[in-house]
Amino acid sequence: MKTINVGLIGCGFMGRTHSNAHRRLGNFFKLDTQTVLKAICDSNEAKAKEFAQTWGYESVETDWHKLIARKDIDLIEITAPNNIHAEIAIEAARAGKMIICEKPLAMNGEQGLQMVEAIEKAGVANLVSFNYRRMPAITLAKKLIDEGRLGRIFHYRAKFLQDWTISKDLPQGGDALWRLDVKVAGSGVTGDLLAHCIDTALWLNGSIDTVTAMSETFVKERKSNLTGQMEKVGIDDACAFLARFKNGSLATFESTRYARGHKALYTFEINGEHGSIAWDLHDLHRLQFFDHHDPGILRGWRSIHVTDSDHPYMGKWWVPGLQIGYEHSFVHQLADFVEGLSNHKPAGPTFRDALETQYVCDAVLKSAHSGAWVKIPGQ
Ligand SMILES: NC(=O)c1ccc[n+]([C@@H]2O[C@H](COP(=O)([O-])OP(=O)(O)OC[C@H]3O[C@@H](n4cnc5c(N)ncnc54)[C@H](O)[C@@H]3O)[C@@H](O)[C@H]2O)c1
Repeated sequence: MKTINVGLIGCGFMGRTHSNAHRRLGNFFKLDTQTVLKAICDSNEAKAKEFAQTWGYESVETDWHKLIARKDIDLIEITAPNNIHAEIAIEAARAGKMIICEKPLAMNGEQGLQMVEAIEKAGVANLVSFNYRRMPAITLAKKLIDEGRLGRIFHYRAKFLQDWTISKDLPQGGDALWRLDVKVAGSGVTGDLLAHCIDTALWLNGSIDTVTAMSETFVKERKSNLTGQMEKVGIDDACAFLARFKNGSLATFESTRYARGHKALYTFEINGEHGSIAWDLHDLHRLQFFDHHDPGILRGWRSIHVTDSDHPYMGKWWVPGLQIGYEHSFVHQLADFVEGLSNHKPAGPTFRDALETQYVCDAVLKSAHSGAWVKIPGQ
């Protein structure tokens, strides 16, 4: 059994999902490699120490430079806020470490390109954590599309709706609310939520050619947790865009943190010549499928309960009919990454793949500013 020693940076929400994936991996996936939780790193020492105890990390660091310099670390996982992804990834690549980085890849495309260049120069294994690709129902959607069951695709429609920033009294910045601070987050819903919708869309339906967008910041000023002063809000609270894919299909994407009643409603629907597919995060184990080839009197939307052992990943878990959840997508992502090292078929999205998503995000923000259609740069 080979081993990979893991050093994980950032013990918040994503630190937990990634650590949980390492804990579950060997129990459910038969691999020739095991991962070892060697070190946890967080700038908050007390939090890091408690996290190390909860998840079984062997050691604690508070300075990520020290973690990267350690000879006993093979894989750096970046689960810290967006503004430090680039410097960590570039330094880790130069030190020859493998890297799994949370999304969005970077603050913008320019920074993302520097990361890609560093990674490719170092030749280290890399993955960006667009985990929705590994929801079994979405992986099944990819299989159905690749088999040609939808035929020519006409429409792609995606939404990611939340409602947690409506109060104008919510401050911005600091440990809990860095997502509202543009200097740390890079953007608002575009990099946070639309990036997921874009990654899934690029994976299922190919590259996007052009976009035109609108965005809004509904609350213009919020108290800063860092300075105590009222400061301008620099993030987009809501963003919607139209897109033309290179395959000729038309798309609409919408994301907001102001859709009262919705906590994390990620949905998409794809309409093709022979059929349609729809998925909903709140019902994540189901894939809705309409097949126009069915005899007329039987035609209708099927709700496929994606729990059979021949469904993607499901043979690894329980018995048919019993479903899995959100956290399993991170286990699948890690399993694919580790398996890719052994069979030399790197799991995606790689940093290079995620750069395309970053370019679409940049184009969306640029278009929201100018009102013009913006072409996505080729890679
Ligand atoms: N894949 C997904 O679905 C998904 C979901 C949520 C967040 N994310 C991404 O994951 C990343 C982290 O988000 P989160 O929700 O876990 O954030 P979080 O605020 O819950 O956790 C971030 C952690 O990073 C630590 N940190 C901050 N600066 C640091 C530094 N300089 N050195 C070491 N540690 C530092 C903080 O103390 C905190 O513990 C972001 O890039 C975010 O976009 C992805």
